[in-house]
Amino acid sequence: MENTVQETKKRALSCIQPTGVPTLGNYLGALRNWVSMQDEFDCAFAVADLHAVTVKQEPAKLRTQISEMFALLLAIGLDPEKSLLFVQSQVPAHAQLGWLLACQTQFGELSRMTQFKDKSARHADNINAGLFSYPALMAADILLYQPDYVPVGEDQKQHCELTRDLAIRFNNRYSPTFTVPEPYIMKTGARVRSLQDPTKKMSKSDENQNAFVSMKDDKDTILRKFRRAVTDSEACVRYAEGKDGVNNLMEIYSAVTGKSMEQIEVEFDGRGYGDFKTAVGEAVAAELAPIQERYAVLMGDKAQLEALMKQGAERASYVANKTLSKVMKKMGFVIAR
Ligand code: TYM
Repeated sequence: MENTVQETKKRALSCIQPTGVPTLGNYLGALRNWVSMQDEFDCAFAVADLHAVTVKQEPAKLRTQISEMFALLLAIGLDPEKSLLFVQSQVPAHAQLGWLLACQTQFGELSRMTQFKDKSARHADNINAGLFSYPALMAADILLYQPDYVPVGEDQKQHCELTRDLAIRFNNRYSPTFTVPEPYIMKTGARVRSLQDPTKKMSKSDENQNAFVSMKDDKDTILRKFRRAVTDSEACVRYAEGKDGVNNLMEIYSAVTGKSMEQIEVEFDGRGYGDFKTAVGEAVAAELAPIQERYAVLMGDKAQLEALMKQGAERASYVANKTLSKVMKKMGFVIAR
């Protein structure tokens, strides 16, 4: 007899803010994993532009950055025929569910979020309500698509845990509605650190340009930034406690080449940091070059980009609206027909 049981794929969702060019940290911690997840999972990926306005944005610059981020997602290999790929603000259900979930989220929970504490310290003149309730909107981004997994870097784990709490709370209060998702954090690249201060995460908003590698940096810039990376005085490539700078470079090299820490130690045994840093820079530049080429082609065809955005928003809205209307009915709203 024919097997009629349908294998249903697990679902995954993730988003990235269009605030500046993504760094090697975004790429190794998140974006690269998205590409490899596309075959195994039913995926949805979005440019989280509504999140970006929780800090001040210059309108013309934001507009450009949204298109650029969308093009970059295509350039890394996300395939709009396999996955939902869209811009968050073009799917109104995100803002709508965000509000409904904000009303289920406690002040105390939001006050504990480390990203809120960091950002409110950095933007002391603009501690707005959106910055505070950011995790409720992020929970909406996720829960609308009922994913099993949320591929993110370490820094987003706390937000994912709050999302789980909100899903469980809603399911208990009303009735089972949301899949309770799990963060999906890859071992290598989960927390790429600053090249200048390896106790901090690599961030595109770092004032020191040498602290991060941007996905658009050319080969010379990449090599120069790695040559200037902070290490230590031991001059020995080994993975060990207290060697944050070298550990970070080894993790990057491992993430890009697939080599283990032991293999890297053997490869650079008896060689100085100079050789090692050049090898890391070369490997990173080689990984980014084909992406940069595809990106340039995509940015040259604005009409195609806009058409893909529109199609992505329509497809995503179809899925998102189903969840939203379920939620609204359960909460007691009268649904317009
Ligand atoms: P964002 O835009 O800051 O970063 C996008 C992704 O990159 C990861 N990442 C890193 N990973 C490793 N090392 C680093 N140094 C590093 N820096 C950033 C982040 O963990 C993230 O996975 N709030 C999110 C965006 C968002 C979202 C969502 C994510 C909005 N809605 C729903 C998942 C699901 C953010 O600000 O990521």
